Amino acid sequence: MSGLELRGLQVGYRRRGLPDLRAVDGVDLDVAPGEVVGLVGESGCGKSTLARAVCGLERPTAGTITFDGDAVEPLGLRRRPARLARIQLVFQNPNASLNPRRRVGNQIEDARAIHPAGREHAPSIATLLADVGLDAGVAARYPHEFSGGQRQRVAIARAMAAGPRLLIGDEPIASLDASLQAQVARLLRDVAVGSGAGLLFISHDLSIVRTIADRVAVMRAGRIVEEGPTERVWSAPQDPYTRRLIAAIPVADGLGRLPEVDLG
Ligand SMILES: Nc1ncnc2c1ncn2[C@@H]1O[C@H](COP(=O)(O)OP(=O)(O)OP(=O)(O)O)[C@@H](O)[C@H]1O
Ligand SMILES: [Mg+2]
Repeated sequence: MSGLELRGLQVGYRRRGLPDLRAVDGVDLDVAPGEVVGLVGESGCGKSTLARAVCGLERPTAGTITFDGDAVEPLGLRRRPARLARIQLVFQNPNASLNPRRRVGNQIEDARAIHPAGREHAPSIATLLADVGLDAGVAARYPHEFSGGQRQRVAIARAMAAGPRLLIGDEPIASLDASLQAQVARLLRDVAVGSGAGLLFISHDLSIVRTIADRVAVMRAGRIVEEGPTERVWSAPQDPYTRRLIAAIPVADGLGRLPEVDLG
């Protein structure tokens, strides 16, 4: 089986004087190559914890993570680059992915060096920048010389330079102006799918997820409460919590607002 497979994934945090917190509590989820899966849910429901576990940055307390048929084991910092070649994360804050003291072209070049096809076959810096709508000339600039939206484009180019098979965007548009959010979300989808990689797009904004995801998983308190094709989940949500998320979306486009549901 290719792509990402989570089965019964549990990730806990130790808490002093309290029982362990099950931040991720028995999640089954798949992301196939070329597929866009939206993971939505409120703050604190466990989305980032799940993303970190997939990247080997948190140790699961139970369950399995499989990627392209291989078990994903938590890796020490030293072995992270190899993992990160296959699975690339794009964070909410592009400053978390970029080094402020290095020219962006050099940072993209570092990522090209871990491309599985080798640097000579990896797409050129100019191509990677063009794919995210930036001019090759910006390679000489430092991160602070870009706007927030451009910086997130650079972070996406840097992630793609490593030739990932899966991209994980952890709230990758949350720090951007509302006017840029849909555009950058679509860009992320286009570059991931265009290269044959899967995309796990994490957001609390179901209205944006709806515009780019093939499937949606709704997470609440560490569990997936509903999962299915995006249009089915949007038009006929089965779980009361999903209905509440949809009902909470402002009616900006005049679509999709459901009657208030009484959750008791
Ligand atoms: N390092 C940590 N140690 C202890 N508890 C943590 C740690 N990181 C997260 N948590 C707790 O685990 C739960 C899930 O957190 P997580 O960051 O995964 O949520 P999230 O869905 O990404 O939220 P947000 O939408 O705010 O980013 C929360 O209750 C959080 O307080
Ligand atoms: Mg988070």
